[in-house]
Amino acid sequence: MEKAPEAFRTISEVADELDVPQHVLRFWETRFSQIRPMKRGGGRRYYRPDDVDLLRGIRHLLYGEGYTIRGVQRILREHGPRFVQAVWQEGAPQPPVGRGTEESPEGERGRFGLWPAMGAQEPEDGGGEDDESSGSDDQVPHMRLGPPPKAAAPPDLKESFNWGADVPDDHPYVKAGYRGYGKNTVPPVPGFKDQMDEYAGAMRKLGDLLLELVARSLDLPDGWFKPFFQSNGGKLRMIKYPPQPQSAQFNQLGAGAHTDWGAVTILAQDEIGGLEVRNVAGEWIQARPIAGAFVINIGDLMARWTNGLYNSNLHRVRNNDTARDRYSIPFFYDADPTGVIEAIPTCVSPDNPVQYPTCSANEHIADMFQRSYGYRPGQAKAS
Ligand SMILES: [Fe+2]
Repeated sequence: MEKAPEAFRTISEVADELDVPQHVLRFWETRFSQIRPMKRGGGRRYYRPDDVDLLRGIRHLLYGEGYTIRGVQRILREHGPRFVQAVWQEGAPQPPVGRGTEESPEGERGRFGLWPAMGAQEPEDGGGEDDESSGSDDQVPHMRLGPPPKAAAPPDLKESFNWGADVPDDHPYVKAGYRGYGKNTVPPVPGFKDQMDEYAGAMRKLGDLLLELVARSLDLPDGWFKPFFQSNGGKLRMIKYPPQPQSAQFNQLGAGAHTDWGAVTILAQDEIGGLEVRNVAGEWIQARPIAGAFVINIGDLMARWTNGLYNSNLHRVRNNDTARDRYSIPFFYDADPTGVIEAIPTCVSPDNPVQYPTCSANEHIADMFQRSYGYRPGQAKAS
């Protein structure tokens, strides 16, 4: 019997309900043949409740349990879709832990084993690798699982020093309360401020060049992004990761899995290593340090701007060195807070209609903040 129409969900409703971007849902469909939403006129997808449960189970296994795509394919093969449709529910049977294979010696989960569920939250005084001006509030779980308090992960194992755009108190951005603008705290170290400003300036120039490359890749004029980066914004963070202590809590890392919030991140890392990035196949790969090279991350703002064409991939850090601290210096290149961010026209097509509402860059950051913390910056925190 045909189910009532209200039982069906569109892809945008499912994306909202599961907090998983539409392009990821479409990607999963190419990897898991068991996902079969009904398709009607123009290829529009309609998801039945069972389809949504299956997606929920896949999300749970990938992002809650840290399985790779291949691992989830095996579970679907061996246990069937019904098992996966239920696996996300509390108390439901879970798959037995898979063994490593020659292809994937570390098994079907990430190298760190069970990594923090997306939705990993940190206390506001934590300090994330790529949060911005204060604490770790710019760490966003790209596809959040469950209610934040329940999914909370232990705080990251690191300490950091932040350096923002240094502007006077009467600057309009400061008056407007935009995060990341104001007076920096300068420690009493000779030459400190000059060095920080010089390095941040160099990173802005490099950021502009990277944005020119992005523009070129999208068939836009080289200077297309430049009007959005006029305020000498962007934030530097100097981070120290101590060796992973034996006393670390379950799932406690130097930096839990997260995406960056801004446009692009330029990361300088030392030779210790420990940064991993998650590729589109759901596998964690090591970003081994290369002397003299930066790691470039695409942030959520760019994913939004490009309508999902560019992906802000997850990454995480654990210092596996037993004796030495790991140091890294990310520069988060963010657009001016008042810039209007709408899907870039060359990134929109009938196959890829606009996925995100137009907003200002500041609203984007506020959205990310809310998604992580359940309230908007400047608002009272719900008790
Ligand atoms: Fe990051």
